[in-house]
Amino acid sequence: MRKPIIAGNWKMNLSLKDAVAFAEEVKGTVPASSKVDAAVCAPSVFLAHLTEAAAGTDLKIGAQNMYDQESGAYTGEISPVMLKDLGVTYVILGHSERREYFGETDAFINSKAKKAFEHGLVPIVCVGETLEQREGGQFESVIREQTANSLKGLTVDQVKNLVVAYEPVWAIGTGKSATEQDAQDSCKFVRDVVAAEFGTEAAEAVRIQYGGSVKPENIKEYMAQPDIDGALVGGASLETGSFLKLLEAI
Ligand code: G3H
Repeated sequence: MRKPIIAGNWKMNLSLKDAVAFAEEVKGTVPASSKVDAAVCAPSVFLAHLTEAAAGTDLKIGAQNMYDQESGAYTGEISPVMLKDLGVTYVILGHSERREYFGETDAFINSKAKKAFEHGLVPIVCVGETLEQREGGQFESVIREQTANSLKGLTVDQVKNLVVAYEPVWAIGTGKSATEQDAQDSCKFVRDVVAAEFGTEAAEAVRIQYGGSVKPENIKEYMAQPDIDGALVGGASLETGSFLKLLEAI
């Protein structure tokens, strides 16, 4: 049985004061980690404060990105060593906004995923097609390529421990969520690609989230699907009330 994982992705939102108040309010209320993994992935400048506020609780903290080197002359970048040192648990890699606005490629995301594992971070690797790709009949080729290339060269054990977030780009922040059947079919397709590349054991263990306009009102339908193991949530993770409702729905 795969344990569900609900991760908030705050993107470039909230103030430090709001972020710490969120962690203080939520940390004692999140369901036990034996039932569900709960995390918020915050802007990097908040991470030290959040890991301190949530230390020893079942609220885990994630980063939204990292570089694929430990240290060096990479102005503006953040290394996996730094994230680990702060007590960060997860790191989102290859979010569609990073792919679109910052030109991130599967090869770069793959390099980051390997580096994340070297330093004990759990990658949340994002894949997803645009509306144009879906309507152009390219869903399968795009998702196969993104999934296989982003995970290339990882060991079976690493794949078993990572999280893939399937997020159709057309459903992100638009309020147009995928139907639960579409989300299920897409997550199943991702699992099939993992099976083809890494074997059935890895495919059975890897957790696959759906992301794209998930909210308390629709999360139950997604979680009822056999291949959906959780959600990566943007807008609805910004307020404690809706974040806790997402967790309570599990
Ligand atoms: O990482 C989260 C996704 O981009 C979904 O964002 O829940 O605001 O649609 P959203």
